[in-house]
Amino acid sequence: MSISRRRFTSLTAAAIAAMTFQSRAIQAAARETGLKDAFKDDFLIGTAINKWTLEREDSTQRDLIAREFNSITAENCMKWMEIHPEEDRWNWGPADQFVEFGTKHGMHIVGHTLVWHSQVPRTVFQDENGNPISKERLEARMQHHIATVVDRYRGKIAIWDVVNEAIEEDEKGWRQSPWFKILGPTFMERAFQLAHEADPKAHLIYNDYNEHNPGRRNFLVERIRDYKRRGIPIHGVGFQGHIGLDYPDLREYEDSIEAIAAEGLAVHVTELEVDVLPRPSSFTGAEISAVQQYADKLNPYVDGLPKEVEQEQIDRYKRFFELLLKHREKIQRVTFWGMHDGESWKNNFPVRGRTNYPLLFDRKLNKKPVYHAVAGLGRT
Ligand code: G3I
Repeated sequence: MSISRRRFTSLTAAAIAAMTFQSRAIQAAARETGLKDAFKDDFLIGTAINKWTLEREDSTQRDLIAREFNSITAENCMKWMEIHPEEDRWNWGPADQFVEFGTKHGMHIVGHTLVWHSQVPRTVFQDENGNPISKERLEARMQHHIATVVDRYRGKIAIWDVVNEAIEEDEKGWRQSPWFKILGPTFMERAFQLAHEADPKAHLIYNDYNEHNPGRRNFLVERIRDYKRRGIPIHGVGFQGHIGLDYPDLREYEDSIEAIAAEGLAVHVTELEVDVLPRPSSFTGAEISAVQQYADKLNPYVDGLPKEVEQEQIDRYKRFFELLLKHREKIQRVTFWGMHDGESWKNNFPVRGRTNYPLLFDRKLNKKPVYHAVAGLGRT
């Protein structure tokens, strides 16, 4: 074989090798991309993380979270009950681990939640004798809690759920929580002012469920207009997104997205999942105290989800994401409330001990068909 032919052959082989390497690199990059990349031009994609995911030695789920998401929310470890269980006792470990994980991976970290009627020690609202605490002392306690927590993570937590679930549905106004009963309606604006004082750069949101409800939406819009008139710092609203196959009406959901955006606030979908199990009575929502009685008929898919129900869920997720993409300029973030079906709170709410399939990954951390259906929308 002539020299030139040998040279041509070796060049061709090198070129083929280079192209093979490049295609493998591209394939590897494609394999390493996740939901965050599918929606990188639309909104942040997040997941709630529980303390066990952060503590366990096996890093498989943490590695998957780092690949798939660019935002994380503390499912429980930053709630008052968990992080500040007694007046002079703090439990920083899990929260520090959560923030370290998010910082390490350059994620948008969400602090959940500063002021809520649930998962807060009853003693917060009592004096030493167990009697209701005075307005002045409760405000001082709220100030101390918010300032201490927000200051610790200043510059690391980008978004705070400042107040969670303070408004009732159907024009009923304020939830009659101990915060409201002792401090009056100004507790919410005071919480936002305190969070802003502690970290002026943090994005501060109000978070609630059934945010499609017109009564809740209208009452919240009135508060937002009042806060903006008086310079109370509020930057966004969290739509929890605990939805089912047949609720809520997405037209009402869209009305709420448009109403909040019209006030100049960012919309966040903060706790998304699609529940596939039968609903006890006409229950919809996330009031954590509203646990219902177990019955086998409410837990029909113990041995697996039937294909027709799986398809219903795929269709529901697609319609929901099509709505979010239609309003992508209004929506800053979409966070799933958990990564895989096995860790979802919906296995135990509103009925304990059920087998639910509400998220995009299965109990073995595999992508479900619904993952691909949702991810495929992001690349359009
Ligand atoms: O960590 C303890 C564990 O040590 C103990 O053995 C166990 C015994 O019951 O309890 C564990 O704490 C539980 C915690 O989840 C962690 O699993 C609490 O009892 C339980 O009440 C708590 O439930 C959380 C619920 O909020 C109430 O805080 C769910 O995981 C969480 O998904 C859910 O999330 C809320 C959002 O924060 C606000 N929006 C509604 C949403 C659903 O309720």
